Amino acid sequence: MVLNTSEATAHLKTYAAKDGLDVKSLIDSSNFGGLTYNDFLVLPGLINFPSSSVDLDVKLTKKITLKAPFVSSPMDTVTEENMAIHMALLGGIGIIHHNCTADEQAEMVRKVKKYENGFINDPVVVSPDVTVGQVKAMKQTLGFTTFPVTDNGKVGGKLVGIVTSRDVQFHDNNDSKISEVMTTELVTGEEGIDLATGNEKLRSSKKGKLPIVDKNGNLVSLISLTDLQKNQDYPLASKSFHSKQLLCGAAVGTILADRERLAKLVDAGLDVVVLDSSNGSSIFQLDMIKWIKETYPELQIIAGNVVTREQAALLIEAGADALRIGMGSGSICITQEVMACGRPQGTAVYNVTEFANQFGVPCIADGGIGNIGHITKALALGASAVMMGGLLAGTAETPGDYFYSDGKRLKTYRGMGSIDAMQQTSTNANASTSRYFSESDKVLVAQGVSGSVVDKGSIVKFVPYLFNGLQHSLQDIGVKSIDDLRTNVDNGSVRFEFRTASAQFEGGVHGLHSYEKRLHN
Ligand code: IMP
Repeated sequence: MVLNTSEATAHLKTYAAKDGLDVKSLIDSSNFGGLTYNDFLVLPGLINFPSSSVDLDVKLTKKITLKAPFVSSPMDTVTEENMAIHMALLGGIGIIHHNCTADEQAEMVRKVKKYENGFINDPVVVSPDVTVGQVKAMKQTLGFTTFPVTDNGKVGGKLVGIVTSRDVQFHDNNDSKISEVMTTELVTGEEGIDLATGNEKLRSSKKGKLPIVDKNGNLVSLISLTDLQKNQDYPLASKSFHSKQLLCGAAVGTILADRERLAKLVDAGLDVVVLDSSNGSSIFQLDMIKWIKETYPELQIIAGNVVTREQAALLIEAGADALRIGMGSGSICITQEVMACGRPQGTAVYNVTEFANQFGVPCIADGGIGNIGHITKALALGASAVMMGGLLAGTAETPGDYFYSDGKRLKTYRGMGSIDAMQQTSTNANASTSRYFSESDKVLVAQGVSGSVVDKGSIVKFVPYLFNGLQHSLQDIGVKSIDDLRTNVDNGSVRFEFRTASAQFEGGVHGLHSYEKRLHN
C-alpha cells in the first residue's frame, strides 16, 4: 500500500525512534574509544529563517559575554597585541601569551585596552635633532612620509612640529636639522576627541594627519586620513561594559612569580586571565585560583586545561569562572604520544561540559579546531567557545615575519611545549616550561613541534568567514542561536551520527583530477 503523501510528517510519528542518535547515545555507544570531531556529524534540521539572523552570542566566562565564540590561543606565534585587538574588534577575544617578560606582556595588554579604532596609538615620532637625510631614509624604509616631531622624539613628548615629504623633498642639504624645515603651525585634536570630529578637522584643514595632544600639548596619538579611508566598522566588537575599551585576556602560569606578573597585567587593565597549564588539576593551580579570587575578585579566571569531570570538579570548586578543555588535541601537540596522557577532544568536550554546565561554568574547547565544522561540533557537544591556534596561525595579525619556502609564503607556528619555545624562555620568562611543569628540568622533554603554515591573509577577512560559516552551519541544523543549539541537543531534537572511515572519505572532495580549495572570497 502506498501512503498518502500529505500525511508524511504525521506518519513519521508512528516510527519508534527518530533518525540518528541523541548526544548521550552518541558518546555512550562510541565503545570503540574516544570520539574526535571527525568521527561524527550533526543531522540537518528545518530551515525557516535566514542564516544572517543566527545569533552567536555566548558566555566566555560566568561574567563575560562575546558576540562570536572565538578565542585566540596564548601562543607566542599566535597572540600578541595585534591579534588581541583584531579578535576583540571582530567579536571574539585574544589571550596574550606569556613567553616574554611580565613588563612586555603588560605593555601588550595596555595597548589593547588603549586601542581606539581609527587612532594610531604608537605612531613613528622623530626628535627635532633628526636630519633631513634621516627622514628621507625613513621614508624609504617605512613607506610613509609624515612624522610628528616631539621634544624627546617619543609619544608622550611635547609636540613641536610635524614633518611631511613636502618639507624635505626639495631640501638639498641632508645635514639640516628637521627643526629648520618642519611645519610648526599645527592643527591638532584634543585627547578624548571622537573619530567623527577628528575626521571633520582633517577634512576642513586639508591635512593628512591630525596629531592628538593632551592638555599640556604632549602627543598622545595620531589620526591618519589614509587609515580613516580604510577604516571599517566593527559592530560585534567585544568591549568592557563600563569603559567601552576592548576586552583583553592574557595567560599566566601558576608559580609564585606569576603572582607578580598578574599584578602588572591587572594594572594594565586585564579583563580575564587564563591559567595556562597542560594539566590544570594541580595544587599549584588550585592555590592560584584561590589567591586570585581573594586578591582580584573582579578578574575572571579561565582555568585548565582539563579533559575529565574529576579535573573539572576541582577547578570549579576552587572558583574557576570558565574551563579550558583539551589535552593532546592541538595541531602542534605530541603530548598524547610522549606522555600517554590526554583524551580525544570530542569525548573530552562532552564529558567536561556536561558536568560544568550544570554549575553555570562555561567551557572553551581548545585544540584541534581545523575548520568551521569542528567549531559547530565543539559547540554542539556543549562548549561555549573555541580556542584556536593553528587555524589562526599564518594570518597577518600573528607575531613574526613571513618567509618563502618552495614558492610558498609561510609563517612559523610552534607548540609552546616545543624545544624552541621552551628554550626561548630560559632567558627571563617561563611560560613554556611552567606550562609543562619543567622549570627545573635539565633535559627538556618536548610536548610540541615547531613548523610553518601558509599565509592566510588578515583575520579581518578570515574571522568573518568563520562567523558567517558558523551561522550557515547552525541554520542547516535548524537552530537560531548557540543557546538554541544547546537546548535542542539537550532535549534530543538535534541528532548525531557516526562517520565510518569510508563516510569520512565520501564527505571530503574525491574523484577529481585536481582542484583548488578556496575557502572564502
Ligand atoms: P590548535 O588550535 O589545534 O593548533 O591547538 C592549539 C592548542 O594546543 C593551544 O591552545 C594549547 O592548548 C595547545 N598547545 C600549545 N602548544 C602545545 C604544545 O607544545 N604541546 C601540546 N599542546 C600545545
